[in-house]
Amino acid sequence: MWATARSSHNIDVMATGADAVVIGGGVIGLSAAWEAAQRGLSVCVVDPAPGHGASWVAAGMLAPVTEATFGEEPLVRLALAASDRWPGFARRLEEAGADPGFRACGTVVVAADASDRAAVDRVLAYQQELGLEVRRLSASECRALVPALSPGVRGGAAVPGDHQVDNRRLVAALLAACDAAGVRMVADRAEAVIMAGGRVSGVVLAGGPPLTAGTVVVAAGAHSSGLGGVPEGVLPPVRPVKGHVVRLRGPASAPLLEQTLRGLVHGRPCYLVPRQDGTVVVGATSEERGFDLSVQAGAVHTLLDDARTLLPGVDELELVECIAGLRPGSPDNYPWVGPTVVPGLAVATGHYRNGILFTALTADAVATFLERGAVPPPLDAYPPGRALEPAAHTP
Ligand code: GLY
Repeated sequence: MWATARSSHNIDVMATGADAVVIGGGVIGLSAAWEAAQRGLSVCVVDPAPGHGASWVAAGMLAPVTEATFGEEPLVRLALAASDRWPGFARRLEEAGADPGFRACGTVVVAADASDRAAVDRVLAYQQELGLEVRRLSASECRALVPALSPGVRGGAAVPGDHQVDNRRLVAALLAACDAAGVRMVADRAEAVIMAGGRVSGVVLAGGPPLTAGTVVVAAGAHSSGLGGVPEGVLPPVRPVKGHVVRLRGPASAPLLEQTLRGLVHGRPCYLVPRQDGTVVVGATSEERGFDLSVQAGAVHTLLDDARTLLPGVDELELVECIAGLRPGSPDNYPWVGPTVVPGLAVATGHYRNGILFTALTADAVATFLERGAVPPPLDAYPPGRALEPAAHTP
């Protein structure tokens, strides 16, 4: 039960005695809060700028197949389970009056040169071994699907089940849905947890009075390990993995691209994700540079160069935005969702390259844990206290 009345916009209300305080208002924190609130729990989200971290920068690909990496079969299964949740989750948000821009558009993978073709074929063979839905394409078959492709493209693959959601519309939809469901938004920074009698009982804020809660859920993306007051080694070791992204725009009436295009260009991965409003999101670099959000000219240059190698029409698009975000990387590339060894403290983080994809699955897992005390399958197989092995391969 809430100890204070609800404001008209649920903003900056002192919230005491909530069932849960979620630290982090990205898509993971917001969707978990929304799910929990819909199950009758009182929930508060703490974030100085909700939805404006990695969730804002992302391209919104829902890509269990094209993100599949050698040696990570269980992660692929998890990602497929996450992908299965998306149509229903998008429909529920729409029913709540907030369309997140889910688009079942499929993905085409292409290779820029002969060596890229060989690399694409190796991945394709692995994906086929796993029984994933992929089909090899000749160069002309690629061009039939994507007429604007460069004539130099050496063929690729069709991945009909890898879709997309407009991540910025998703943020807006979740904020609206949270508001309607009574989730309280506190525009502040969580500095530390409050420990009492060996358990976490609330959160100390940078600028406001402390919040008390039955459970504190850390969903702060790449910043999840930095929360004060938590005993050493309890929070998972999340690291920031920087990604540069470029946003372009063309006429919505004559889109350059209808489906997501992923390419390998002289060994470098590149993707172009078209939105219905004519925006094309081009990404992304993968850099280990700590908490650095600066936008570098060289990274933007390379992304644009690779994008126009695949799709020469990129030259005619308007350059709208260059931005960088921080993926929350985990040592083994699997997320952490569930309780820590400290009573009252749970986490939902480490989703690395798949945060948007895992939104619905993680939200259900967090809400189920808050409601019933246990994380449901399949995420229960990856508890926050697990022994960590380094990733088999990091793209
Ligand atoms: N999932 C795409 C990326 O992390 O760049």
